[in-house]
Amino acid sequence: MNRLLLMNGPNINLLGKREKEIYGAFTLQTIEEKITELVEEYGGKLDCFQSNHEGELIDHLHQANEKSYDGIIFNPAAYTHTSIALRDAITAIDTPVIEVHISNVHKRETFRHQSMLAAVCYGQIVGFGMDSYRLAALAFLNK
Ligand code: DQA
Repeated sequence: MNRLLLMNGPNINLLGKREKEIYGAFTLQTIEEKITELVEEYGGKLDCFQSNHEGELIDHLHQANEKSYDGIIFNPAAYTHTSIALRDAITAIDTPVIEVHISNVHKRETFRHQSMLAAVCYGQIVGFGMDSYRLAALAFLNK
């Protein structure tokens, strides 16, 4: 059975209210429900976690490693572009991580073009709205 973890970083809790022209009108709850349904269709199980705090995200990655998930779908939001600490946490754990972004970060401000994390992730999916999460889940489920 596939056991996956969905993690979201800062401000993703405000989806549905926040910059809808960029991120769409769907909420974090909808993402969590839809991805849970998809994983369960494949006979797997999904746990979900969101935090606005870098340290909590790092702690959760460490704990996830103890729980031996098959994969982590992670939208690190703005920490993508800044966090060497999250990069080190991803490097430190055995669980593969797919970095996900709702928007196409490469079409946006230049500071969003760089990811501190992509080079230590299993893969990266950007720019497909809610389907970015779906595609990441499928990449693990079809593995
Ligand atoms: C984001 C892109 C980031 O640059 C931004 O800081 C976010 C959301 C995305 O999903 O498109 O908060 O990760």
